[in-house]
Amino acid sequence: GNTVSIGLLGLGVVGSGVIKLIESHQEELIHQLGCEVNVKSVLIRNLEKARNVEIDRTFLTTNPDDIINDPDIDVIVEVMGGIDETYHHILQAFAAKKHVVTANKDLVALHGTALEKAARQNKCDFYYEASVAGGIPILRGISDGLSSDRIQKVMGIVNGTTNYILTKMSNEGVSYENALMEAQELGFAEADPTADVEGLDAARKMAILGRLAFSTDIALEDVEVSGIKNLELADLQYGEKFGYTMKLIGYAQCSDQQIEVSVQPTLLSKEHPLADVKNEYNAVYVYGEAVGETMFYGPGAGSLPTATAVVSDLVTVIKNMRLGVCGKHSLEARFEKHLRSSDQ
Ligand code: NDP
Ligand code: HSE
Repeated sequence: GNTVSIGLLGLGVVGSGVIKLIESHQEELIHQLGCEVNVKSVLIRNLEKARNVEIDRTFLTTNPDDIINDPDIDVIVEVMGGIDETYHHILQAFAAKKHVVTANKDLVALHGTALEKAARQNKCDFYYEASVAGGIPILRGISDGLSSDRIQKVMGIVNGTTNYILTKMSNEGVSYENALMEAQELGFAEADPTADVEGLDAARKMAILGRLAFSTDIALEDVEVSGIKNLELADLQYGEKFGYTMKLIGYAQCSDQQIEVSVQPTLLSKEHPLADVKNEYNAVYVYGEAVGETMFYGPGAGSLPTATAVVSDLVTVIKNMRLGVCGKHSLEARFEKHLRSSDQ
């Protein structure tokens, strides 16, 4: 028909960005897809809460079954966060033959392999571009753009909250607590910011990147992690004085079939390209055997940048639906190779 209906799980920072973007870019969407995109229902927790986006209240529900079992809904966009409950909803969505787009790196890092399999078994699409580095199309960059190469190293700033805190502390002398509070107010931090500041959010993203870059599963427990909680303002400012900037850097490297993934605070010389990445911005350096050095840069968190990645995934899913190739052309062509061999 001329409308594709989607169900949205979550209407917070990212979910409200998704609604705004679909509305404000409807013309571009119709032009590319030849149909309208309609958000039919939205799952939330609290029906009384004020919303910062215009939405017909009759579209809101607190019952996930209203969305997952709605035969008119073709695609579920999951931007509610959380792991166990969300995992269950997505498996149910695949069983109901609905395609899924998510921004949830916690879930993808932990259950990505199982979810990819469930999607494939049900001939559904599963896309998660927004789960790593917000608005930067890094997963597509690796999976599609560099698909012909052998990637050897991925290195980058993949957490906006900690980069915001470190920038404010180093450049403006703002205290850790105040900088964290600002990052929370701006919508960059997770609902519980512990995962941001302890490096776990970055570790999850590095596991997802490493998985795609090296076509193999990477367990979170194998990622060595340390965060920024214990860094002192005086130390950062001292580093600045001598031409060094502290950044939380993720590394994923493959040499001699050995894969190493880690996240750690690192002092970079101001000449280093990653030293200049400020505030919530992210940057990912990818080294491929044939291509050499590449660098991806952009907003790593925030409402509209993240929504751009989510809605672009949605565009891909709808195009696949129209071509009848859903579940065949998954974004992670590289990783699919690994999945097929682990199926046997
Ligand atoms: P928010 O906390 O702002 O929003 C979460 C939304 O989901 C809220 O609308 C909430 O309902 C709803 N929700 C949460 N749990 C439940 C539940 N159990 N049942 C029903 N509804 C629920 O989160 P964000 O928008 O910041 O993040 C969403 C996801 O996107 C997370 O996975 C996050 O990691 C990821 N992400 C976030 C980015 C960012 O910049 N913020 C960037 C990239 C990814 P209610 O409003 O009623 O409380
Ligand atoms: N809390 C995350 C960050 C959101 O600060 O990078 C984007 O994944």
